[in-house]
Amino acid sequence: MKLQIPVDTAGGRYPVAIGPGLLSDPASWQGLLPGRQVLVVSDDTVIDLYGERLNQVLATLPGADDRQLGRLVLPAGEASKSLASCADIFQALAALGARRDALIIALGGGVVGDLAGFAAACWMRGIAFVQVPTTLLAMVDSSVGGKTGINLAQGKNLVGAFHQPAAVIADTDTLASLPERELRAGLAEVVKYAAIADADFFAWMEAHAPALLARDPAALAQAIATSVRHKAAIVARDEREAGERALLNFGHTFGHAIETATGYGRYLHGEAVAIGMLQAARLSQKLALAPAEDGRRLERLLASLGLPTRAEPVLAPETILQHMRLDKKATAAGLRLVLWRGIGQALVSQAADDADLRAVLAG
Ligand SMILES: NC(=O)c1ccc[n+]([C@@H]2O[C@H](COP(=O)([O-])OP(=O)(O)OC[C@H]3O[C@@H](n4cnc5c(N)ncnc54)[C@H](O)[C@@H]3O)[C@@H](O)[C@H]2O)c1
Repeated sequence: MKLQIPVDTAGGRYPVAIGPGLLSDPASWQGLLPGRQVLVVSDDTVIDLYGERLNQVLATLPGADDRQLGRLVLPAGEASKSLASCADIFQALAALGARRDALIIALGGGVVGDLAGFAAACWMRGIAFVQVPTTLLAMVDSSVGGKTGINLAQGKNLVGAFHQPAAVIADTDTLASLPERELRAGLAEVVKYAAIADADFFAWMEAHAPALLARDPAALAQAIATSVRHKAAIVARDEREAGERALLNFGHTFGHAIETATGYGRYLHGEAVAIGMLQAARLSQKLALAPAEDGRRLERLLASLGLPTRAEPVLAPETILQHMRLDKKATAAGLRLVLWRGIGQALVSQAADDADLRAVLAG
């Protein structure tokens, strides 16, 4: 079954299509190929799995004979979300003779989507791009909402732009090849939507954790669609993160600090976010904002999805705290953290002091 969820932004509306077989379905691509130049950006894992499907469908679309098709394949992994890869994309676009009506297709996970989207935002001050997310994390989060960017040695996502895709094509068949650990990391972001805004969805996740881990197609499609609906609604109300969109960072200030402190090698982003959400819940309890039982339910749900619930003891609270202070969301007035009043009710708070944070980080 195919679902289509609209995302409304200042620049117009675009569709997020979710369902099996969408990548190879010519209908998914109708009206999306404005010019003659198309550059496919992917990584060396995903291109081997799904590059041919994309080639075949593009060959069936109107104008195929005149189209100039380029391809840029990067090494899989976060290290490719770099200035150097971005320069490679610009070179590939230049080699194609790409004009303002050229199109970039981002085929892959969040790394490819963020990078290719950023290059699309820059080329001739902005050309169209289509997100074809192939990880669960990219389907439920990074492909929707227009945040694009690259990392510098000094930090993640330090250079970026808001640039909305022309469409998102989430072919759920591609999840069949996703490594187990990547699937679980994506489920952490699904839990995030339930935790911040939707107590019914949280209960649904509790009941469907085994089905989700078993990749039951109906359960996965429902989890993706519900997540995308939440993201689309928040983006429609606060595209540039002036307020409410910040709630999507639940668990992320803690999580990013854990990722940075461990050199990005130890935890996947979703795993660090799982630990971070629990730290946010524990802090909320300590500040008497939220009941302890909701934190325990969150811990049980994340554990049932095979996600870590505590950071390694070797991570010193002071180190994590230092990284948290460098977070993009920190202001001169101090740390702004996304906490909760309990399941489904997130809020932004500056109430925690260093002693509270140290106590929570020390576990
Ligand atoms: N823009 C946003 O709003 C936003 C939101 C969340 C995360 N992000 C970013 O997303 C990135 C993480 O994305 P990710 O988790 O998708 O990582 P990723 O793109 O590195 O993909 C994870 C791994 O899975 C492989 N893979 C992808 N699809 C596959 C498939 N179908 N079958 C088999 N293997 C497959 C990739 O080759 C890679 O090795 C981070 O850079 C993060 O900052 C951005």
